[in-house]
Amino acid sequence: MNVVSRHVCDLGRFDADPEKSYTIPKEYYTDPAIFAREKEAIFFKAWNYVCHTSQVAEAGAYVTVRIIDQNIVVMRGQADVLRAFYNVCSHRAHELLHGCGQTRMVTCPYHAWTYHTDGKLRTAVGQKRVEGFEADEFALKQVKLEEYAGFIFVNLDPDASPLHAEAGSLADDIKGYCADVPGLKFAHRLTYEIKANWKNVVDNFLECYHCSVAHPAFVDLVDIKNYHTKTYDLYSSHISPPGRSDNAAYQIPDGPAGNFAAWWLWPSVTFNVFPGSANITVLHIQPTGPETTLEHFDFFFADATPTEGERQAIDYIDKVLQPEDIGLVESVQRGLHSRGYNQGRLMVDKDRSYNSEHGLHHFHALVLKQLGDL
Ligand code: FES
Ligand SMILES: [Fe+2]
Repeated sequence: MNVVSRHVCDLGRFDADPEKSYTIPKEYYTDPAIFAREKEAIFFKAWNYVCHTSQVAEAGAYVTVRIIDQNIVVMRGQADVLRAFYNVCSHRAHELLHGCGQTRMVTCPYHAWTYHTDGKLRTAVGQKRVEGFEADEFALKQVKLEEYAGFIFVNLDPDASPLHAEAGSLADDIKGYCADVPGLKFAHRLTYEIKANWKNVVDNFLECYHCSVAHPAFVDLVDIKNYHTKTYDLYSSHISPPGRSDNAAYQIPDGPAGNFAAWWLWPSVTFNVFPGSANITVLHIQPTGPETTLEHFDFFFADATPTEGERQAIDYIDKVLQPEDIGLVESVQRGLHSRGYNQGRLMVDKDRSYNSEHGLHHFHALVLKQLGDL
C-alpha cells in the first residue's frame, strides 16, 4: 500500500485561535496512515458509546458494538453485574455474539466452547483429555465499562480515567432537556453506510451554518436565529428554542414544545432531544475505514412503540434530514480529493452566532492533540 504521510504533522494554516484558523488539512480526511493513528490514539483510548441502559437491563442481555476492528460485547451477568468483553472466543478466535439479545450462556459457533455470562469458561469439549488445561486461563478478556447519563460506554484503555470525570457537566446538561433518560425505551434504529471519513460526518453535525441552505424544514422546526453552540472540554452543546408547531418537518404535539438540544461527545457520538414529547436520539458515528462510516440513529421514547407524532419525526429524519446531510458529506469527501483544495477557512465570528463554525475548531483541536500533532 502506498501510504501518503508527508503532511501528517504539517498543519498548514490551522491555528490555535479559532478566529484565525483554517480547517485541518485534507489528508486528515483521506490518508490511511492518519486513520491508523486515529484508531490507536483516539478510538482505543476514548470512551465509546454502546447503548442505552434499558437495552441491557435483564440478566443475560447483551449488545455488541464494533470499535473499528475490535468487536466488543456488553452483557449483564446473572448476579446483575454489567461487564464488557472482547467479543472473541479464547479457543481459536471465532466471534461469539452478534447484534443484541438475551442468553443464559455464550456458546461459540465454531467448536461449542461455552462461557458463563460473567465471562468465565464453562465447558470446552474434551478439556479433561488435554494435559494441564486450566479453564480459568480462558475467561473472556474484560474491557472497561461505565454507565453515564443513562447510557453505556466502553473504553479499551485499561488506564482510562472515568467518563464521568472526563465529561464534566454533560449528564446534568442533558437532564435539563430530557428529565428521565434512563426511563425511556428503545423504539427504533435507522442505519446508514456513508462514503465519508468520520470527521467529515462529525464536522457536519457541529455547525448549523449549512442549515438555512440545506435543511429548509429543520430551520422551520427550530428557531434558527437563536441556535447556539457552546464548547466544553470534551463535548459541545447545540441548542435552539423550538420553531413553529406546524413546521414543515413534523407536527409537534400540543403543549410546551421543548427546545431542540443536541450534544456531541468526543469522539463520535451525539445525543439529540427534538421538539415534541419526551425523547432522546443517539447518532453514533462509527468509522469503518479512512473514507467509510457507519451511522446508527437510535430513538428512545416513553414507550417502545412510537406514537403517530414520533413516527412522523422518525420519518422526517430518515427521509429528509439524513439524506440531506449524507449528500453533503459524501460530496465533501469527493471534494477533499480535489487537487484544487487543501484547507478551508473556518467561519468563526466573535459573537459565536448560529452561523459560526467554532464547534469544528474545538473538535479539530481535540483530534490534533490526541494524535500528538498539535
Ligand atoms: S473458536 Fe470458539 S470454540 Fe473454537
Ligand atoms: Fe445538517
